[in-house]
Amino acid sequence: MKHLEGEGSAKSSITGFWSIVFVAILAVVSGWIFTVDHEKFIHVPPQSQVQKYYDLFGFLLDWASVVEQPAVRIMIDKCNIEDGMTVVEFGYGRGTLARDLLTKFPNLNYIGIDVSKGMYETAKNRLKEFGNRAQLHLVNDSIETMKALPGHFVYKGLSVDRFISTFVFDALPTTTIRDIIKQTNYPVRDGGKICLTSLTSRSQIGNEKPKFYANAVIKVWQAVSRACPICLGGCRPIDLKMQLERTWHAYQTTFHDIIVSYGVPVEIFVGTKKH
Ligand SMILES: C[S@@+](CC[C@H](N)C(=O)[O-])C[C@H]1O[C@@H](n2cnc3c(N)ncnc32)[C@H](O)[C@@H]1O
Repeated sequence: MKHLEGEGSAKSSITGFWSIVFVAILAVVSGWIFTVDHEKFIHVPPQSQVQKYYDLFGFLLDWASVVEQPAVRIMIDKCNIEDGMTVVEFGYGRGTLARDLLTKFPNLNYIGIDVSKGMYETAKNRLKEFGNRAQLHLVNDSIETMKALPGHFVYKGLSVDRFISTFVFDALPTTTIRDIIKQTNYPVRDGGKICLTSLTSRSQIGNEKPKFYANAVIKVWQAVSRACPICLGGCRPIDLKMQLERTWHAYQTTFHDIIVSYGVPVEIFVGTKKH
């Protein structure tokens, strides 16, 4: 009996030891996640890794769209898309937004640019029924494709009415974001619009109250992106307003907001090309 009692207390002291180790590890990891500034240490993964990631895991985007939809709906509303317009989408993913727009507007011309073969195949299938109204481009270098857009449109006597991109800028380096905005200057007509959504590193705009749970999501997302840049598809919360600032001269901001969707903060930006 004595022997059994001794065994019991040995077991409980081992359990106690491991509980302390577990709590200590949890405290250190939480401290690292929530008190360290990760933003400037996050590396954007190389394009080739991003391409492979979306080839393999792009099917998950249909689930992610539950979180994305509220912000995308607001962006589309503020973008004032009308029937007969020419819309360019940068990073069309599974072609969900393209399908919705082409269905709603029977005379809309849609041009999509993406780097993932998997996304291209899925979107091509999804948009088959729209024939020539949906032109999908699978490219290796999207900046070169953007540069080629003016020639493409001058040849066809068209100009771009709307340039849209949802949840792609947050996977790109700052220099690429600025290059893309610069390359829109010529093909987007005066009075045309750029309409964007992205994950954001701020949970509120201006003097609004910071949202505690959204700030926690930002911190966890940044910590994961820092530890493993490709694990979340290369997407990390960015300050979209700041990223756009230096190349935004051709545009006037007509709508800017941050919403929190299922705990995830999303920045929405709409600019109108100046005359
Ligand atoms: C997070 S998904 C968003 C897809 C879609 N816009 C949506 O909201 O569901 C990012 C998409 O951008 C594409 N992408 C990533 N880098 C790109 C680049 N440099 N040029 C064009 N597309 C890119 C990916 O292949 C992927 O389809």
